[in-house]
Amino acid sequence: MKAAYITRTGPPEVIIYGDLPAPTLKPNQCLVKVAAVDMNPIDVYWRAGMVPAKIQFPFILGRDLAGTVVEAGTSAKKFKPGDRVWATNMGFADRTGTFAEWVAVEEEWLHPIPDNVRDEEVVAVSLVGVTSHLGLQQHAQLRRGDVLFVNGGSGGVGSCVVQMAKIMGATVITTAGSQAKADLCHELGADHVINYKTENVTQQVSQLAPNGVNVWWETLREPDFQKTVPLLALRGRMIVMAGRDATPEFPVGPFYVKNCSLHGFAMFNASAEEIRGAAEEINRWLAQGQLRARIDRILPLSDAAKAHHLQESSTVHKSGALSGKIVLSV
Ligand SMILES: NC(=O)c1ccc[n+]([C@@H]2O[C@H](COP(=O)([O-])OP(=O)(O)OC[C@H]3O[C@@H](n4cnc5c(N)ncnc54)[C@H](OP(=O)(O)O)[C@@H]3O)[C@@H](O)[C@H]2O)c1
Repeated sequence: MKAAYITRTGPPEVIIYGDLPAPTLKPNQCLVKVAAVDMNPIDVYWRAGMVPAKIQFPFILGRDLAGTVVEAGTSAKKFKPGDRVWATNMGFADRTGTFAEWVAVEEEWLHPIPDNVRDEEVVAVSLVGVTSHLGLQQHAQLRRGDVLFVNGGSGGVGSCVVQMAKIMGATVITTAGSQAKADLCHELGADHVINYKTENVTQQVSQLAPNGVNVWWETLREPDFQKTVPLLALRGRMIVMAGRDATPEFPVGPFYVKNCSLHGFAMFNASAEEIRGAAEEINRWLAQGQLRARIDRILPLSDAAKAHHLQESSTVHKSGALSGKIVLSV
């Protein structure tokens, strides 16, 4: 089968688009004919060797997939051939990557795709949507009427946080790096969008949320707690989920006297059951048109190296090249 894989870490040029043996099916797995996959920053970090990870080569890239079940293992009961399914959190632990024509997936990691939702749409919200859902509900415990600030509302995670926080009844303040991206954030439902390149974010947030921010979601890899902690409300919750090398100073005094809490999490630690809870709600919101995918472009899987270049330039080097997810059709 065709797959995009690596035999060593390095620049995007190490990616090989070529033939690998098709997977063999275990009893608790379904064989999925993959239709669409997408890019996430974590794909870049693993391919580039930016994070300490035990990688078994050849390593098939990719965390998410959407496709159709072609065969169900003997003990797989939930899905049958012909069912459309999606998955995230693949390519991690003992689970194989998704950038391939066929992937064998333990059925506990599979979710149905609603009839009126396209493969490209569901795959574009899979990892970022589950991350946003886990962060808002499990960690920040967002409540109706809360004021939420998300730094980077135009990004993959941020655009889902904006939409979900609005569905959950919050007032949403966010940032974007251009007028066009600010307009998109408004279209997703953001109440206030601050251009972080031309405006003073700290000043704007303190004016827009005079009683403080109840939930602060930081998507940047360099959080600045000296600036953000004073903007938190009493009992404010702060989410950190990016920046493995970040070791910023932390203003303990101004934080604890407001009964604030700091929540760090990585979606890849979530169990299949935790992800299923998020996936069910994501499916419902997608089917009802409340949650929309933001797709920057669709490339063929053979362009996996180009997709890696673009994602790296946008997320790591902050070129702002992307406005939405890169989806690859398989
Ligand atoms: N812990 C987890 O479970 C988890 C899950 C998913 C992702 N992540 C991590 O979260 C981070 C974000 O992921 P993503 O997929 O959303 O990345 P992304 O799509 O590249 O988004 C990055 C965002 O940051 C914004 N930005 C850049 N510089 C900024 C600044 N100085 N001030 C405010 N905003 C700024 C960009 O805005 P413009 O484009 O408008 O300039 C863009 O909205 C990555 O590091 C990723 O690895 C962690």
